[in-house]
Amino acid sequence: MEKTTQLYEGKAKKVFATADENLVIVSYKDDATAFDGLKKGQIMGKGVVNNRMSNYLCQLLEKHGVPTHYVEELNDRETVVKKVSIVPLEVIIRNISAGSFSKKYGVEEGIVFDEPTLEFSYKNDDLHDPLLNQYHALALKLATKEEIETIKAMAFKVNEVLKAYFLSLGVKLVDFKIEFGRLADGTIILADEISPDTCRFWDAETNEKLDKDRFRRDLGGVEDAYKEMMKRVFGE
Ligand code: TMP
Repeated sequence: MEKTTQLYEGKAKKVFATADENLVIVSYKDDATAFDGLKKGQIMGKGVVNNRMSNYLCQLLEKHGVPTHYVEELNDRETVVKKVSIVPLEVIIRNISAGSFSKKYGVEEGIVFDEPTLEFSYKNDDLHDPLLNQYHALALKLATKEEIETIKAMAFKVNEVLKAYFLSLGVKLVDFKIEFGRLADGTIILADEISPDTCRFWDAETNEKLDKDRFRRDLGGVEDAYKEMMKRVFGE
């Protein structure tokens, strides 16, 4: 499978067409942004970590009955995925307080929740991805009622599978963001990456941050955190 024309360039990835109209090739960059692209930088080797980790996790989720866009890893940075139209909702699940949750509600990081939380934001950079609830999403016709129910159920299932998996690697899955897409026939599948860019990972023993927060907050050791997560998943 080969790339033809470039369809899109985002902040962290490029998407290319292929000879098959139902498939595209995603190419992961080392570029990193935070705060709506206000903060820019590079994390050496990030594209490789995110590509390989996302693909591994998609296959794990498929085994547990969650349909994903994953088709075939071509090389360290490029993967064939099913073409979808993205549902413009960012779905965020939290197991432990951190980030914008702690800021918004004035609580420290690290409070373990009895039940995971789920929130939506409207995927719209111009509006800075505003928080919305499912009634707002319906009013804006971002998804149907049925699609929203499917997305919520799939998101909690993803959390269940990934939380247990990462714990087995000595990592707490604090929170994460996922996105969903529609296939041509309307089927909802998990699309986009699952990586240290889109999840918060804390070492289970020390609570050391092993994710993009090291870049967002200038904590140093950014590349090492990505490498450490690669080591936990692939043992290399
Ligand atoms: P938050 O605490 O800043 O709302 O982030 C929640 C989770 O979502 C965290 O794991 C990081 C991830 N995330 C993204 O993947 N993309 C984004 O643009 C933002 C703001 C957060």
